[in-house]
Amino acid sequence: MATNMREKGVFMYVSNMEDYGHLVDPDYFPTKYLHNDMWQMKANRKDWENRYISPEYWKALSPTELNEMPCPDVFWFPIFTPRFCKELVELANDNGGWSDGSNNDPRLAGGYENVPTVDIHMNQMDFEQEWLWILRHYVKPLAEKVFLGYDSDARAIMNFIVRYRPTEQSFLRPHHDSSTYTINVGLNRPLIDYEGGGARFIRYNCSVVNTRVGWSLMHPGRLTHYHEGLQTTKGTRYIMVSFVDP
Ligand SMILES: [Fe+2]
Repeated sequence: MATNMREKGVFMYVSNMEDYGHLVDPDYFPTKYLHNDMWQMKANRKDWENRYISPEYWKALSPTELNEMPCPDVFWFPIFTPRFCKELVELANDNGGWSDGSNNDPRLAGGYENVPTVDIHMNQMDFEQEWLWILRHYVKPLAEKVFLGYDSDARAIMNFIVRYRPTEQSFLRPHHDSSTYTINVGLNRPLIDYEGGGARFIRYNCSVVNTRVGWSLMHPGRLTHYHEGLQTTKGTRYIMVSFVDP
């Protein structure tokens, strides 16, 4: 094309000063989801990180940076951008396969959930492998930073979005998680999208409320961190939960 234009004397202006986007490989770019860019972490990692990983994440990861610990051995990290959280919630609602919050759960091998929530699993959304990739690449290094000496496999079988509402399930009774450690990411805005909610760690009588969008709590799952989900009193509260190294 350039040769033909030159020979025909057609003026061309080429600039790399403006960003007009980029080409994507159609073999790896899905078109069937509401937010297809969410699936691009492997094919287009740099753009994906700029869109979806919080700029504060890299600072939190630094060995010299002290991480927030709102309750004993409960850490609090910025991981995702508000855009990631918004798109994840929209994908869940677009999917719509929320469970009914009862003990009978046909999605599980035994068909029974001891501590049920109204939720959608990542495999229902076709995002399970992507989420596990995120655990391995972004969550594992944080866990190994704060839980000194622990080598995390960053495996998880239970990866799900929970929805709390005053008119349906609004809280979660005290329980242990079946994990070595659990992450719990706030997906929407306290006092704007919902009121109430949060996590209370019973042995420490310590609560984390007004959880920040894109920030993840990280706490041990078994034995020490018996916890409950505090009541959401207004609106809808969404969190993303993974039971890591079950
Ligand atoms: Fe829990």
